[in-house]
Amino acid sequence: MARTRLADRLAAARAERQAAAATRVRREIEAREGAQVLVDGRQLTSFCGNDYLGLSQHLDVVAALQEAAAWHGVGSTGSAGVSGHHAEHAALENEMAQWLGYERGLLFGSGYLANLAVMQSLLGEGDTCVQDKLNHACLIDGARLSGCELKRYPHRDVEAALRQLMSRREGAAILATDGVFSMDGDQAPLADLALVARTQDAMLFVDDAHGIGVLGPEGRGSLAVAGLGAREVPLLLVPLGKAFGGQGAMLLGSDSVVGHVAETARPYLFSTAPAPAMAAAMRASLRLIRAESWRRAKLASLVARFRRGASALGLPLHESFTPIQPMVLGDNARALAVSQSLEAAGYLVTAIRPPTVPADQARLRITLSVDHGERDVDGLLAALADALKASPEPIPA
Ligand SMILES: Cc1ncc(COP(=O)(O)O)c(C=O)c1O
Repeated sequence: MARTRLADRLAAARAERQAAAATRVRREIEAREGAQVLVDGRQLTSFCGNDYLGLSQHLDVVAALQEAAAWHGVGSTGSAGVSGHHAEHAALENEMAQWLGYERGLLFGSGYLANLAVMQSLLGEGDTCVQDKLNHACLIDGARLSGCELKRYPHRDVEAALRQLMSRREGAAILATDGVFSMDGDQAPLADLALVARTQDAMLFVDDAHGIGVLGPEGRGSLAVAGLGAREVPLLLVPLGKAFGGQGAMLLGSDSVVGHVAETARPYLFSTAPAPAMAAAMRASLRLIRAESWRRAKLASLVARFRRGASALGLPLHESFTPIQPMVLGDNARALAVSQSLEAAGYLVTAIRPPTVPADQARLRITLSVDHGERDVDGLLAALADALKASPEPIPA
């Protein structure tokens, strides 16, 4: 059989993406102050970042990073097991474990890496991982990498999760879910999932990338809202690139489970530890998250204003009460057209298309931040109403 020329295959795949309005272009942010960004020389108000609490440019956080960089340099010099584990990392691990009520924390360079690590080190052939269909890609990729049997239940369907766990009793099992779903903004039924996990001897693992900092007292996230802790949710992931405003991710669990990941996970062992300066910055973010509840109150009031305004204008709303407010538009071309109209009106809202979301569910993923004002929200809503009128839903053939 003749070998496929990779270059030909890639050219065909690109042509296919172009025909489906699925090509991806990165926008270059030339400067940023809060939600105001400079793109191609134009000032736009961004409604698509994850800096929910406005901490990524907070003076205390920036100063902590600068001071630690002056002291430790910009790099960690190695993987954590060799030369890269610094006092700043250890302090952040301890402070976060104490804050959230876990025995131990383990800092990773990113949430994606952490989820690959957890799955690959805790599960293997003969084991099972049961996951919500809309979980973030890295939870799914991690389970695939581990060689376990991956089962995905319909979104938020607790009974289906139970059935999937009951259908395979051999081997160990993890039940994994996002706390707040990244593209939909809705919340996992954590209390019910905890019950299912307990009755089925499965370990519940929650990735709270979009709940931590934003929800619950002191911003302790989805678990606090559901009245759960380390006993019901033995493994918790806290990515630091969203409300914390930085980079990295903290895995929290018992000494024995987290210790096992630290000693055996290939994505942990064979990757350079994050910069100590970033850990110092994240310690400053943690202090602000705990102390400044006004940020959560302001965010909640912006979310409520957005939903009230959208509903008054008859715009399609999703069942989400978090700062992630998706507007599902269906086909790629329409999502792109609406995103382009918004940009012409001064708003940056990237169109999210498959494979990030399921086919025919292209959308605008609108995110709100403490950096927005009420006038920003009202302006976006008016621009959205105009943009949707200019790109009406196609009439089915
Ligand atoms: C639920 C969830 N988990 C994990 C990640 C990945 O985290 P990171 O961006 O730190 O790799 C994301 C972010 O994109 C996410 O939304």
